[in-house]
Amino acid sequence: MINNTEILEYTLKNQLGMVVKVINYGGTITEISVPDRKGKLGNVILGFDSLEDYRDENNPYLGCFIGRYANRIGSASFKIDGHEYHLTQNNNGSTLHGGNEGFHRKIWTVEILSDSSLMLRYDSPHGDEGFPGILTTQILMTLGSDNSIRMDYQATTDAPTPVNLTNHIYFNLSHGYSPTILEHKLTIAADSITTVDDLLIPTGDYTPVTNTPFDFTKPKNIGLELQQVSGGYDHNFVLNKKSNELLLAATVADPTSGRKLELFTTEPGLQFYSGNFLDGSLTGKSRTAYVKHSGFCLEPQHFPDSPNKPHFPNTILKPGETYRQTSVFRFSVE
Ligand code: BGC
Repeated sequence: MINNTEILEYTLKNQLGMVVKVINYGGTITEISVPDRKGKLGNVILGFDSLEDYRDENNPYLGCFIGRYANRIGSASFKIDGHEYHLTQNNNGSTLHGGNEGFHRKIWTVEILSDSSLMLRYDSPHGDEGFPGILTTQILMTLGSDNSIRMDYQATTDAPTPVNLTNHIYFNLSHGYSPTILEHKLTIAADSITTVDDLLIPTGDYTPVTNTPFDFTKPKNIGLELQQVSGGYDHNFVLNKKSNELLLAATVADPTSGRKLELFTTEPGLQFYSGNFLDGSLTGKSRTAYVKHSGFCLEPQHFPDSPNKPHFPNTILKPGETYRQTSVFRFSVE
């Protein structure tokens, strides 16, 4: 029980046997089991065995939904119509992933719609972590008959406020056979990244990926040039798309299991995070120690610090408007 609410795990299945488990704490996805090339089901995401571990302050956002603002807002402040708002500082003076008690620590209302779909709802009060306006949020999660998980996000507000929602699943497509994801092959449809300073706050510039370790325009092992990136990959890729259509953003293939993941999104950006801060101190499911690069995250999003970068795509939601985001994670084998 948390705040008099029982924490429950819900199971979704599709006709092919794909299994996805979700808890109402943080809307956290605790398991995604999909077949390997031999047809054997295996869980391909990092997770914990107990609720206590998910609630622990050292939980690095395994599998949860992130809000109100995915990634960083520099100096934990922004202005709307000349009024300055101050947020919780939880990352070197900035706000990361919505603050200490962001959406990842909230109790969501879950409505089961069918064997393969459910709705998550959370109403964030005015002043939540410093954000203005009541934000009414819902996420429809649907398993497809093509072994996909579709996430349709919607939010409305009663006062102008920044919104940038995403999901923070850590994937390891090998189902634990490879302790790290360094041999997974990644492709990202992005010709540039948003340049960041030492604290990972965008400077406002863009860096072309050509001739840099950030060039994933063709399939490349995640580990191949990772050592050349100080701290590892933790960057927002500017997707090569001119509209908010649902388009392919990234593909990841694991040669060991044959599993392949494709991510489609309506978002303009994608945070690729190579699990750099995992250090072996967390023990996950089946007593696995999560060492550095045990998993990777693909976080479809608007660009970090957009509320302070007027030339980035807009993240301010106004009353009367509806925020929408759709992302699809599709699994197959090759
Ligand atoms: C961020 C990382 C952060 C991690 C937390 C990622 O989305 O980009 O900087 O450390 O989340 O697990």
